[in-house]
Amino acid sequence: MAEEMSGNSGTAALYDALNRDRSDLDAYVGVVEELGARRVLDIGCGTGVFALLLAARGAEVVGVEPARASLDVARAKPGAGRVRWIHGDATALPPLRADLATMTANVAQEITEGPAWYATLRGAYRALRPGGHLVFESRDPARRAWEGWNRAESYGVTDVPGLGSVESWVDLVEVAGPLVTFRWTYVCAEDGATPEERLTEESTLRFRARTEIEDDLAACGYEVREVRDAADRPGREFVFVARRPH
Ligand SMILES: C[S@@+](CC[C@H](N)C(=O)[O-])C[C@H]1O[C@@H](n2cnc3c(N)ncnc32)[C@H](O)[C@@H]1O
Repeated sequence: MAEEMSGNSGTAALYDALNRDRSDLDAYVGVVEELGARRVLDIGCGTGVFALLLAARGAEVVGVEPARASLDVARAKPGAGRVRWIHGDATALPPLRADLATMTANVAQEITEGPAWYATLRGAYRALRPGGHLVFESRDPARRAWEGWNRAESYGVTDVPGLGSVESWVDLVEVAGPLVTFRWTYVCAEDGATPEERLTEESTLRFRARTEIEDDLAACGYEVREVRDAADRPGREFVFVARRPH
């Protein structure tokens, strides 16, 4: 679950190197094909991996992201000129009439506060054309993913271009009801391992039950068409396919 970091400039620069396997995005590409979506809004686009992938396939893509450092990484990538990048969140988007809005890699869980969550669902709704879809994933709380968020189970060493070997691991900080806080640590091997040379990032995620999300979607005007499994993480994620009615 190295995905949950991309906020500051240090970790934003590391995000893609530490998340090379993006087979999680295959299912979203499949959804784009299945729905025949031509105009796609990627909410919480991070370093732009999915937005750029779709744009290269000919889609008209808008990527919105509140973390400036991640958006800067996205904007510097080859092909970035094909995507319309917006610094911000889904609450203040221009009229888009999108066929599809996505939130890949558990963006939904990063939106921990109720008002911001509802504002995101409503903002996505306004950005969709009637009949357009919102598709996103969220971890099943019953699987208690955080129980594996410890150094022993997450430790890894990755060769990062320009930096060399980077050690990384996650520590669980707190579980407070549906809110789970954890801290990623990154250490450049060449630097030695003094605390000052470590880069850390603490994040909190909200774990919502399937019925809670279904109710939230309905309250914001969506029809929940389907709740799928994530093929690359079977039994661990809910993938919501919701539609703005015609
Ligand atoms: C784990 S990253 C995933 C990035 C990207 N979707 C991907 O697949 O690589 C989660 C992203 O959600 C973004 N995020 C956090 N709060 C958000 C909000 N309220 N609205 C939109 N995005 C948000 C973070 O800045 C971060 O880039």
